[in-house]
Amino acid sequence: MEVIICPTEERVAEVAAAKAARLARGIGPTVVLGVATGSSPVKTYQELVKLVAAGELDLSEASAFALDEYVGLPQGHPESYHEVIHRTVTVPLGLDPARVHVPNGFAEDLSAAGEEYEAAIKAAGGVDIQFLGVGSNGHIGFNEPTSSLSSRTRIKTLAASTRADNARFFDSADDVPRHCMTQGLGTILDARHVILMATGQAKAEAVAALIEGPVTAMWPGSVLQLHRHATIVIDEAAASGLRLREYYKETYSHLPDWQRLEIQV
Ligand code: F6R
Repeated sequence: MEVIICPTEERVAEVAAAKAARLARGIGPTVVLGVATGSSPVKTYQELVKLVAAGELDLSEASAFALDEYVGLPQGHPESYHEVIHRTVTVPLGLDPARVHVPNGFAEDLSAAGEEYEAAIKAAGGVDIQFLGVGSNGHIGFNEPTSSLSSRTRIKTLAASTRADNARFFDSADDVPRHCMTQGLGTILDARHVILMATGQAKAEAVAALIEGPVTAMWPGSVLQLHRHATIVIDEAAASGLRLREYYKETYSHLPDWQRLEIQV
């Protein structure tokens, strides 16, 4: 795992975007992005928009696959991830909406919809760069604690803590759906690169478990320890529970030239 500790939330976004842009340039304009919703990636997407506007990143033929979608919201609900991805990713990055996919949480047959989503990812050649956040309970996607480490896209029941965390997007906590469709941990592990962003003290325990804890379904993000190309970009508060903080900082400031990003932290 590559762990990059940044002084501010803004720097987290700049570093995550620089890392993604470097990878995307190597892949070319047909890059397949995996996109998370929630607060963590918002500033990173804004940084990517700047890079596209400056002509430093070509996403003209890019595709995108969202991680998850609520089940039980009416189609067109502003907090459905179809709408959130459209507002925060598709439009600002100028992606072709026909190439942006979100799990179909509105389907009558959700298990068939999960299989179709897996097939669509496969047909696109797989996800090249997967952006992730992490829940305060350690979930990635909506793979709540005790999710199978080899799970695929399917329906899940949201944990009470996740519904409480996401109540800020709804009029009341009761309005947060109880179910979701989410890529599985096995699906996420298939992405060629993952870039996870986390900021703030509320993420410190989950970040420590993800990076330094045992691999366990109780902290689903810890499955990323099995990924060959996982980059974790966090601020000081989110890093505060890590034992090897100084080692990660030393590693980043002494990267060999060919691995060095243009941004220092
Ligand atoms: C969102 C997702 C979740 C969030 C996580 C953190 O598509 O899959 O795993 O990344 O709940 O949410 P924020 O970033 O809002 O703290």
